[in-house]
Amino acid sequence: MGFKEGFLWGGATAANQYEGGWNEGGKGLSAADMMSNGTHTTPRQITRTLEEGLYYPNHKASDFYHRYKEDIALMAEMGFKTFRMSIAWTRIFPKGNETEPNEEGLKFYDNVFDELHKYGIEPLVTISHYEMPFYLTENYDSWVSREVIDMFVRYCEVIFNRYKDKVTYWLTFNEINCGTMPMGNYLSLGILNEGTRDFTKQIDIPQLRFQALHHQFIASAKAVQLGHSINPEFKIGCMIAYMQNYPYTCHPQDVLKCQKLKEMGNFYCGDVQVRGEYPYFAKRYWEENDIHVKMEPGDEEILKNGTVDFYSFSYYMSNCVSHDPNLEGTAGNLMGGVKNPYLESSDWGWQIDPDGLRYTLNELYARYQIPLMVVENGLGAFDKVESDGSIHDEYRIDYLRKHIRCMEEAVNDGVDLIGYTPWGCIDLVSASTGEMGKRYGFVYVDSDDLGNGTFDRSRKDSFYWYKKVIESNGKDL
Ligand code: BG6
Repeated sequence: MGFKEGFLWGGATAANQYEGGWNEGGKGLSAADMMSNGTHTTPRQITRTLEEGLYYPNHKASDFYHRYKEDIALMAEMGFKTFRMSIAWTRIFPKGNETEPNEEGLKFYDNVFDELHKYGIEPLVTISHYEMPFYLTENYDSWVSREVIDMFVRYCEVIFNRYKDKVTYWLTFNEINCGTMPMGNYLSLGILNEGTRDFTKQIDIPQLRFQALHHQFIASAKAVQLGHSINPEFKIGCMIAYMQNYPYTCHPQDVLKCQKLKEMGNFYCGDVQVRGEYPYFAKRYWEENDIHVKMEPGDEEILKNGTVDFYSFSYYMSNCVSHDPNLEGTAGNLMGGVKNPYLESSDWGWQIDPDGLRYTLNELYARYQIPLMVVENGLGAFDKVESDGSIHDEYRIDYLRKHIRCMEEAVNDGVDLIGYTPWGCIDLVSASTGEMGKRYGFVYVDSDDLGNGTFDRSRKDSFYWYKKVIESNGKDL
């Protein structure tokens, strides 16, 4: 028992948080390029033009653009079997609506994929990871406009054809279910409303949000069909931010509330992408929230014919749900909840729950019965560099070790788990806060929250530990 042979051990990143080179090689501005830095307590700001005096951390990020060879060599040293990365849409189509791609951008990813294959590392590519071309935000209201579907499909066609012999594993949209929450307005749907610059508090119009999400579903389904027609070997997955929630008590109202939250938060998108149709509970939710999803003739068929080959998700924490509004709250990546008295939290208030991962894997496999992949997991923490340059990140090892143990339990339960790519394997910019100081990596990047530093790389203790884990196929923890 234990992890199967050929299990895809690796690490995960996203172009906007890791790549840098924001205005090099013909790249256009993306949604993430317009976000200033923030902190734990101060929200990031979205600006319509780049403003002097503000710092935009995604511009340089971790500078993978210039250091990909060095970084990939480090991944190879750890024994990575796969590397999750995203393609920046704006590197291929700078505005998003062009008809001809940018050759320099395409060449960059050719180089990256070739470098990965040199070491036998399989790329796992997210096609859209919070990287909406800003031009489309400004001129089309992003995914609210149905026209954007064709632009996205053109982008997919170009990258599928170009990389058909270099990439097998694809994910269409990162954490697509972010769009079921107000938080997703700008981050995943590219909808920018007037009235606030706080990216977490965009004015929410559920009608627009759910219409935009429908367009993403259609775009994803079309991409899946197109991908399979270009290379039948392609494995194309969905990607969901899995927010595990527990009823705070056995009070039936807690249980029901929790069920309803999970339906819309976790299952609404996965059901469309895996089963090819909206779930039964969608109708009531739409009615009660005055949402009228406009569908065109043929949409149902597109969804039916564009179901994914595997289900991938991020898992960081769990939360509790209560019908009592007076209970103490806790933070979360997309959504907070009620504090669980049995769990500890990270420095950013995310509750640590390895058993919840086993529970989640079983829950998902029971529902969908297709291969699963954990494509994000990890502990964002402050790291201390000792005077000799070493970094003793025992807390990170402890977090990952416990989660891997629980994944193995799920595999022994019978779940078909095919890979694990912990988040931010090399330090990168935090999506929620824009900080560099919230680190997830096995490799340290010498840069602070304002981009000061050499950007040199160094191995943390977790680097050596993860190497052993991979070498032993998850046995030596
Ligand atoms: C996921 C995103 O929600 O969580 C990543 O897909 C993000 O882009 C990760 O970085 C961790 O969140 P944060 O806010 O700590 O960067």
